[in-house]
Amino acid sequence: MKIFIDTANIEHIRQANNLGIIDGVTTNPTLVAREGKDFTALVKEICSIVDGPVSAEVMALDYEEMLDEARALSRIDKNVVIKIPLIPDGLRTVKVLSREGVRTNVTLCFSANQALLAAKSGATYISPFIGRLDDISHIGMDIVRDIKAIYKNYGFKTEIIVASIRHPLHVLEAAKIGADIATVPYEALMKLVKHPLTDIGIQRFIDDWNKMKVEVK
Ligand code: E4P
Repeated sequence: MKIFIDTANIEHIRQANNLGIIDGVTTNPTLVAREGKDFTALVKEICSIVDGPVSAEVMALDYEEMLDEARALSRIDKNVVIKIPLIPDGLRTVKVLSREGVRTNVTLCFSANQALLAAKSGATYISPFIGRLDDISHIGMDIVRDIKAIYKNYGFKTEIIVASIRHPLHVLEAAKIGADIATVPYEALMKLVKHPLTDIGIQRFIDDWNKMKVEVK
């Protein structure tokens, strides 16, 4: 499974990338606004750190404007993937972009039927938001399972990015289902690395090693 980091924070992207396990980055307008930086410059900087797909979202909601915005964003760097919301004008835009060879990440997906339409439009990626479904008492991961089955039935090439991840169990479930990608916030990513028994084990090794050194003296 590929792991993307879901943030626009440069420091977090650098630290995560240094682990050597990051395959790409997803941003969204909320994450970008949090950083208070120029959007284009920020996307360029992210692309200079991570050698993989970097999703940048259009703000327009109308087909013509979305298309203009998408084309401008795609000129920032070869690794930029255009994030398009799952609305009728969005699907139309994705269709044109896919014909032009521009990669797209269809976002704000909350049902398997929406994901089916995104794949038919030629989306490169589909982003089901599982945490936000969990938030309203729907099992978010169920739609990932359904999307996986539907894409397999018809041989769609669209890759599933499990998004709106809140904690390590979401990543575990995504991997068990066989989702192509999990996009993980920095805090959740660090929780994947950590295990209390690892820390206890290290401390015990250090203590025992130090005891041995004392005895040798
Ligand atoms: C994905 O591309 C989105 O940026 C993100 O996963 C949304 O997560 P949230 O529901 O925690 O805002």
